[in-house]
Amino acid sequence: MNRLTGKVALITGAASGIGRGIANAFAREGADIIVADRVPEAGATAVLADIRAHGREVLFVQTDVSSESSVSVMAEAALSQFGRVDILVNNAGIFTESLLENLTIADWDRVVNINLRGTFLCTRALIGQMLARGEGRIINIASQLGQIGGKSVAHYVASKAGVIGLTKALAREVSSRGVLVNAIAPGPIDTPMLDDESDEWRRAKLADLPIGRFGAVDEVTPTAVLLASADGSYYVGQTLGPNGGDVML
Ligand SMILES: NC(=O)c1ccc[n+]([C@@H]2O[C@H](COP(=O)([O-])OP(=O)(O)OC[C@H]3O[C@@H](n4cnc5c(N)ncnc54)[C@H](O)[C@@H]3O)[C@@H](O)[C@H]2O)c1
Repeated sequence: MNRLTGKVALITGAASGIGRGIANAFAREGADIIVADRVPEAGATAVLADIRAHGREVLFVQTDVSSESSVSVMAEAALSQFGRVDILVNNAGIFTESLLENLTIADWDRVVNINLRGTFLCTRALIGQMLARGEGRIINIASQLGQIGGKSVAHYVASKAGVIGLTKALAREVSSRGVLVNAIAPGPIDTPMLDDESDEWRRAKLADLPIGRFGAVDEVTPTAVLLASADGSYYVGQTLGPNGGDVML
């Protein structure tokens, strides 16, 4: 409790799943929260209620992280309400499947633009004010698939491997100036993102997972709290893996 008291955190894609869990966990730890998601505010009422229930201030900004103008409006709204953003969590992401030979350019662009370009745009929009204050935390939600690859998901894998590479490159640029940048690469976590997966995929994945079950959102959020808080002060450019043993590096 209170590991993030006095902090302001902006979490993209926080209307659902892992982002919602991180927003809730950060609010429980004392942070005020900006929820940025492409859904309208009515689609984020649950997370907004979670945050208020912790007694924290919250701002919702409807944002498409792949759009430069939308991200710029998001950053302006956050900075005008709170004066600063101490912690940025680049969590918004989408997942689609296709063999590469059938993958359309539109699908490639959509996944890469949200998952990777969105991470770049949100980071660029908010890192200046962190560097000016000489402190900040950036947490990028990658995926274990970005570490090991996967069939029928080359575009998703490329976007998430890109997020891991961006994390390392940026960490080398800014950590000596007080901004710590790290990534989290979760294994399969029960969120709406997995809803479209077939029973056959679920059975095969479960048989393969050392821990024998999918993860819960609350098994990812402690890693985000660690990286956002004073406890995470010596993590630089790392990719932490709450993944049930699916990947062992
Ligand atoms: N669930 C998993 O198994 C898993 C595993 C590894 C990594 N991840 C990653 O975790 C992150 C969160 O995924 P989740 O499982 O919670 O999925 P989710 O579908 O529950 O949540 C994704 C959120 O991102 C938002 N979003 C999508 N496109 C957006 C855009 N252009 N701009 C702003 N917001 C947008 C959605 O509206 C939604 O609220 C993603 O980056 C995903 O790739 C998920």
